[in-house]
Amino acid sequence: MHRPPDDAIVDLVDALRWQQEFCLAMDAPVSAALLGAVVDGLTGPTSTLLPPRVRSGDRVGLRILAALHRLILDGDADLPREPGPAQRSAVADALRQHPEVLAHYLARVPQTNEIGRGRQLRRALAEIPGPVRLFELGASAGLNLHPEQWTDAHDAARLPEIVERGGCDLDPLDPRDPDDVALLRSYVWIDNPRRREALDRALAWAADMPAAVVRRSAADYAASLTLQPGTDTVIWHSALLMYLDGDERRRLAEAIEALGARATAKARLWHISWEWRSADDADHALRMRSWGAAEGGSERVLAAGSTHGVSRESREPA
Ligand SMILES: C[S@@+](CC[C@H](N)C(=O)[O-])C[C@H]1O[C@@H](n2cnc3c(N)ncnc32)[C@H](O)[C@@H]1O
Repeated sequence: MHRPPDDAIVDLVDALRWQQEFCLAMDAPVSAALLGAVVDGLTGPTSTLLPPRVRSGDRVGLRILAALHRLILDGDADLPREPGPAQRSAVADALRQHPEVLAHYLARVPQTNEIGRGRQLRRALAEIPGPVRLFELGASAGLNLHPEQWTDAHDAARLPEIVERGGCDLDPLDPRDPDDVALLRSYVWIDNPRRREALDRALAWAADMPAAVVRRSAADYAASLTLQPGTDTVIWHSALLMYLDGDERRRLAEAIEALGARATAKARLWHISWEWRSADDADHALRMRSWGAAEGGSERVLAAGSTHGVSRESREPA
């Protein structure tokens, strides 16, 4: 399933069809069917509510799915899960009757704060001696800034000490704010109750220890980071790069290289990411690169798996 370049401007129908196929490949048939219903409705009045052409990396399909899920969660729509005429008209009615909800979601970058991706971060952290200063770009509600909270005792034993943590997001969410919590839940696909449970577990502990996530762009935040002797500075991001435009992607890469150029054996830098593996691959890859470490320099791929962070070798949802 070839993925168009993130910056490509594509027809809405093509973007939604791609997302539909992707949901099917991710074993999310209800989400796929809802997107199919949206596409089928594009010849009708729904079309006026949606842009005809979209940036591929903006994932407009995810935005519409989250809007529909929000209407369901709030009790404002009752959408049949099976594809067919009843689902098609219920989806079209829901979008037409709640244009403000659709507009709200269309205007926002999807904010799935996914614990499964944080488990991948944790796997990479286990290779770092520490003590670690952990900084996340595009951290959403900051749920992945507390890898110690996750329950796998085996991994917990191997985690380095984390002495400082922080993150940035264009739109930070607060795990204690009911509106933000409702937003986070809406982005979990309707097919994935275990992801929803994992999110709710994370939100329960995060309410007592919200991470410091500042409102700032990824490139600007990365450029503001420094190294500290006696620590390993870690820059981490997941499911972020597709949302950045070309200029910000370039500035981000330059900021990380510039920081890496200042790294020493006593003040190392590590860049860890869970992002698309390639344009022709539905998988994401866990990549790690270090500066100042004996084995540093080139990038290593440590693992691969789904966008939601489930490793390919594991069939269990995270
Ligand atoms: C799909 S979410 C992923 C959140 C988190 N990284 C995770 O994996 O759970 C993408 C996040 O990136 C943020 N984002 C998008 N563009 C950004 C930018 N230019 N700078 C900082 N954050 C950005 C969004 O607001 C959103 O919270």
